[in-house]
Amino acid sequence: MCGIVGYVGKRTAQNVLVNGLKRLEYRGYDSAGIATLDDEDNPHVARSVGKIAELENVLLAKPHEGHLGIGHTRWATHGGVTVSNAHPHHVGNIYLVHNGIIENYKELKESLSGYKFNSDTDTEVLAALIDKNYTKGVSLKDAVAKAVKQVRGTYGIAVFSPNEPDTIVVARLGSPLIIGIGNDETIIASDASALLGYTREAIYLNDGEIAVCTGKGAEVFNLNLKHLNPNHETIEGDVEQIQKGGYDHFLLKEIMDQATTLHNTLSGRIDPANGTMHLGGPNLTAEEMRNINHVVIVGCGTAYYAGLLASYYMEQLVPDLTTEVVVASEYRYRSFHLPKNSVALIVSQSGETADTLACLREIKKRGVKTLGIVNVVGSTIAREVDGGTYVHAGPEISVASTKAFTAQVVAMVMFAGMLAGYHGGNVELVSKITNELAILPKEIEKVLRTHHDEIKALAKKYVKYNDALYLGRDTAYPIALEGALKLKEISYVHAEGYPSGELKHGPIALVDDTFFEIFDIIDNWLFDKSIGGLHEVRARGGKTIVFTNSKADIETDDIVRIKSKITILAPLLLNTLQQLFAYYVAVGRGNDVDQPRNLAKSVTVE
Ligand code: G6P
Repeated sequence: MCGIVGYVGKRTAQNVLVNGLKRLEYRGYDSAGIATLDDEDNPHVARSVGKIAELENVLLAKPHEGHLGIGHTRWATHGGVTVSNAHPHHVGNIYLVHNGIIENYKELKESLSGYKFNSDTDTEVLAALIDKNYTKGVSLKDAVAKAVKQVRGTYGIAVFSPNEPDTIVVARLGSPLIIGIGNDETIIASDASALLGYTREAIYLNDGEIAVCTGKGAEVFNLNLKHLNPNHETIEGDVEQIQKGGYDHFLLKEIMDQATTLHNTLSGRIDPANGTMHLGGPNLTAEEMRNINHVVIVGCGTAYYAGLLASYYMEQLVPDLTTEVVVASEYRYRSFHLPKNSVALIVSQSGETADTLACLREIKKRGVKTLGIVNVVGSTIAREVDGGTYVHAGPEISVASTKAFTAQVVAMVMFAGMLAGYHGGNVELVSKITNELAILPKEIEKVLRTHHDEIKALAKKYVKYNDALYLGRDTAYPIALEGALKLKEISYVHAEGYPSGELKHGPIALVDDTFFEIFDIIDNWLFDKSIGGLHEVRARGGKTIVFTNSKADIETDDIVRIKSKITILAPLLLNTLQQLFAYYVAVGRGNDVDQPRNLAKSVTVE
């Protein structure tokens, strides 16, 4: 979703801002802009609708000089996609960029008589509110603090005024802001990836904090203006990780990179010789581990499906455990009850998803321990959970989540394997899965390499279809859901995932020659039942594609048959091929695969 950058220092601010905005493009946006101060302290604003390239054209015609500025990529919430709604907003003496939503902006607007508004945004109201408070003798920091205290909602903001030409003030409540401390320069961003290449030293602002940034660093305060001593942390990752590395799209790179990223997820956490798994991060005592009797797994989108798949393994590994997998946007408002000795796994690639974060806070209020299954280091969820584990999938740039899914499932399986050790669980299964995990990176690499051209050809064959059903049972059911999600996200093909046992309860009515059906079939005790569903669809004229690890003869239009020593975790292998299938369908339809329409990578508002 919306992205923020800010710069004050010795470089030309415009270049740093545009570079930073490009790094944030992946989050999804529909307009962009920057505001800078030139060396005579005159403000300049450039905004445009569409891609950053449009903004660059505007700046090419009229470049900005100067060494201080703020920039923004906007994903429309209040008001349409227009130049006047794009950020930065300028009111009076204030230039402002904002992520989040000001819920009481209508009330605030009514109290701001005398101001003329040029946009439909809540952000412009906040700019006016700050300006109103920015009276003679009041510093920008104090004006911002006063204004945000009147706000209901969420915000990450960066503000400057020509009256204090060396300063950017930032504040946060529920929307991330990171301050990169460089050598005589300070770079601000809503996402650490925009800071890479400038500095590794950063202050992660907490909710309810405000900071005054100059070329010499940053001073942090709470909203009562008490001076704080923030931690200076190290940003991980490098610029290469956030580049395409020779691939046409980030999505393809991220699918193909999964062997490497999974290696990082597993590193130091499994012991195949002894058949055990161990995660360092849960921060639970042996007694607490033994006492866990219920696991609730919370996530949105792909993270939710990762949780669903992991729960199947968890129940097999720890037989005395109950599990519950919930969609965060629903769970946060339910009157939920969790048994004593529950643990919540909070699953999020970005660590910033608003609904998931809200659930984390609700669960904590009930005194239940929370563990993060998070990718982005230092993200809000990672900081607020009681413990947990980073999945170490590396930066995921493409909006559709791929490598994070695999890493999340594996991290949760390792948690379950570890829990099994404390619960006298299924030791034999723990050992088998540990051994499968040990070879999973290589097997993923092999499967992706072996089937790449086949999947490309398959996607070409089905590229014109507008409807698809994905079906699976048991551990193949969550990957049917995830496969359908991937296809709809990037190819805009209407795709539904269903448990194949439910076919007769509705979806079979859809089957005709305008649909194609993907059956994910694992060679296990439910094989014959899955084949039964396949026959039912074929008997009604359905076009079927089977993704399977079975050697059996299967009657179908198309089949992708993997050969692997991996059996229990085979759904993960099939899923990587489904990711590739969705990718090539989207490419074939001429879509913007990395930034699909209407979607955002990190959904930081409700
Ligand atoms: C958005 C993204 C999805 C992602 C979901 C949850 O919808 O487009 O790819 O699965 O948010 O995001 P999270 O960062 O919490 O995993």
